Amino acid sequence: MTVALALIAVLLAVAVVVVGAVSAGANGGAGASATQAPTETPRPAPAQAAPPATVDTFDRTAHSLDDPMSIWVVVNKLRPMNPQDFEPEDLVFVPVDYTFEPYMRQEASDAVVAMFEAAANEADLYLASNSAFRSYGAQENIYDGDDLLTARPGFSEHQTGLTMDIGPSTGECAIETCFGELPEGIWLRDNAYRFGFILRYPADKTAITGYEYEPWHFRYVGVPLATEMREKGISTMEEFFGLPAAPSYE
Ligand code: DAL
Ligand code: ZN
Repeated sequence: MTVALALIAVLLAVAVVVVGAVSAGANGGAGASATQAPTETPRPAPAQAAPPATVDTFDRTAHSLDDPMSIWVVVNKLRPMNPQDFEPEDLVFVPVDYTFEPYMRQEASDAVVAMFEAAANEADLYLASNSAFRSYGAQENIYDGDDLLTARPGFSEHQTGLTMDIGPSTGECAIETCFGELPEGIWLRDNAYRFGFILRYPADKTAITGYEYEPWHFRYVGVPLATEMREKGISTMEEFFGLPAAPSYE
């Protein structure tokens, strides 16, 4: 009788252990209880949301590239002024320091004045004009035969009335490459776009523009285009508008 009872006790103990183990397995592990949330089936990670597509909303046809009165007119060795002796009708005297009396189209003149004021007020830098509008005849006198440095008459951006050669009011590095390293040249390089100007002949773009680095030569194109070119990192009008490079006259 005692042996039988012991045997029953052993069988019961084994049964309790087995039931316990099965129960623990079904509930996800040790310590699981009826109140614990059932283990969730792992779900696949949600798909990464696609970044919003960048829509190029800039209107590259907003102004003519050919009309000499357009603020986007592109003048280079393959795109002469048309007519060749063009002179804008709205030239005004630009009221800034200068070495040669500067005239520009009204809109560009206003932008130069604002830019020179900002250089003085924001950075204590004082700028002067070394050359602005140049007629066909004036370009005939300036052209020195070096096609990397000066434009032939009828091919100069200065004839648009939208361009100014800028230097420090001290005259240091006037029309010299060292202007690009002066505080005035660095400020203009970094801030001209805010006033609608681009540095038209960058150092690394001679094969596109046909001219060597001219850190002093700024061309007015308006704030929207100057800002767009800067944001896109496209420094020449030829590249921005998909025009042929103009390294030479043929
Ligand atoms: N120096 C620039 C290229 C001009 O003569 O218009
Ligand atoms: Zn110039």
